[in-house]
Amino acid sequence: MAACTNYLLTLSFHHANSSSISIPKFSTRLHFNRPSRVVENISAQITCSATTSSNNHMTRTSNILGLIDQADAGLSSTGKFGRFGGVFVPETLVSCLNKLAAEFNFILHDPQFQGELAVALRDYVGRETPLYFAQRLTDHYKNSRGEGPEIYLKREDLNHGGAHKINNAIAQAMLAKRMGRKSVVAATGAGQHGVATAAVCAKLSLDCSIFMGNVDEERQSSNVLLMKHLGARVKTVEGTFKDATSEAIRKWVEDLDSSYYLAGTAVGPHPCPSMVREFQSVIGKETRKQAMEKWGGKPDVLVACVGSGSNALGMFHEFVRDEDVRLIGVEAAGSGIDSGKHSATLSKGEVGVYHGAMSYLLQDDEGQIIGPHSIGVGLEYPGVSPELSFLKDIGRAEFHTVTDEEALDAYAVLCRLEGIAPALEAAHALAYLEKLCPTLTNRTKVGDLDNSYCLVGTAEGPPCPSMVPKFRLVIGKETRKQAMEKLADKPDVLVARVGRYALLCCPEGIFPALEAAHALAYLGNFARPTLPNGTKLERPIMHGHF
Ligand SMILES: Cc1ncc(COP(=O)(O)O)c(C=O)c1O
Repeated sequence: MAACTNYLLTLSFHHANSSSISIPKFSTRLHFNRPSRVVENISAQITCSATTSSNNHMTRTSNILGLIDQADAGLSSTGKFGRFGGVFVPETLVSCLNKLAAEFNFILHDPQFQGELAVALRDYVGRETPLYFAQRLTDHYKNSRGEGPEIYLKREDLNHGGAHKINNAIAQAMLAKRMGRKSVVAATGAGQHGVATAAVCAKLSLDCSIFMGNVDEERQSSNVLLMKHLGARVKTVEGTFKDATSEAIRKWVEDLDSSYYLAGTAVGPHPCPSMVREFQSVIGKETRKQAMEKWGGKPDVLVACVGSGSNALGMFHEFVRDEDVRLIGVEAAGSGIDSGKHSATLSKGEVGVYHGAMSYLLQDDEGQIIGPHSIGVGLEYPGVSPELSFLKDIGRAEFHTVTDEEALDAYAVLCRLEGIAPALEAAHALAYLEKLCPTLTNRTKVGDLDNSYCLVGTAEGPPCPSMVPKFRLVIGKETRKQAMEKLADKPDVLVARVGRYALLCCPEGIFPALEAAHALAYLGNFARPTLPNGTKLERPIMHGHF
């Protein structure tokens, strides 16, 4: 990979390896986990072309799509989205990343891998997730004349594990397995990526180490426990997510041949940002299909919270070329956008290099990282996806901020109006509705009320499947239909509610409720002595809150 051929950089990584690459424009010194400010805005031209032509929609449109085409065309050779992204790593890592990029490009078009992934997404992750019409939230935001946008929630909270992270984790773990890797290392902040990675490693029999900051471990202790139940080693690092990420990458570099670094979000050196975005793009693809089914069109507005960018890009990517769909990313203003305690990287950051790629960054005048803050732990990262940085620069996506307090209010509103407890990260997207909805109402006054759909991305929540309303009859009916599809027959044995927690937890990466674990435990007791040669045991259908 021809990484960094334009710049003179001295990278210091793991206190040992370094590489120098020449560039004529400027010289700056980059430590792996200490960014330097890029002194020249080489995309001024791009920004201007999007801005100066904003009076002329047609010109602006073709400019933006042209820039997206240009970036797409260069991506596989340069790893860059415009000026962002790249491979700012020591030489020792370059061949490993090249190999990963080659495998990734292969499986993208490999029908066998894609077929297996589709089955895992359906049967293990639980896709597709519903596109839920939030009637009471819609009513809440209507104006005095009863006008307002219709609000839909893409229910990523209903995925196995309670968040979108598993869409990417399962796909990358399958890729790791295909590459013959034996162990996986990952970093987590809120713990959702840690839980997702631990789960898929259990399922695929991969050794799993999750790095987590001590501060985050304390805040997200239930997820730490769950990762351990799922068989992962949780490695404590002094600090928060950014420090855990540096440590996870260091650990990976110690054993590049047999270990795999499973990136949880759309940051890091190429191909990590493209890979994570690709594996999350199932969110947007489903959304397009479901919108077509529900109202025969596209959504007008997509809103998603932005930590580092995976759920936002997962939703946005499918619609990036549909310029009539507004893309809105919501960042964490924390204690206030001017308080110095926030995670609003795209809104307040400046361009630099961190964790192997160029993006907007929270950094001080010396180019040192400013520690991020948000009540949504998963939003606390000083960098952001290079692709989102690019979409900001070309004017294709807009970014706004909401404070901790506003996010907490939005959390309470969704709980009380819809009976859905969103993750505090997703509550940031919801909070932005307060500002957005009145402006959409203005727009509907000019005549397109019926077409005004506002779609809020990824309402992730904590793993709480018992909140999913399912009636017994529904479970039985679905079971009969699925058994006919999978086995062309009825199930022989149904076991319900009667477990060994670890039995299912570790070998399959599924965490049953302790009630359901009783049914699982019984399998061991009755199967061997009473059923002939395992024939029936192949088909027990477990019923319980998994
Ligand atoms: C539920 C949830 N939503 C959003 C995020 C933010 O990450 P990203 O911007 O990569 O989607 C996280 C991160 O942990 C999360 O756990």
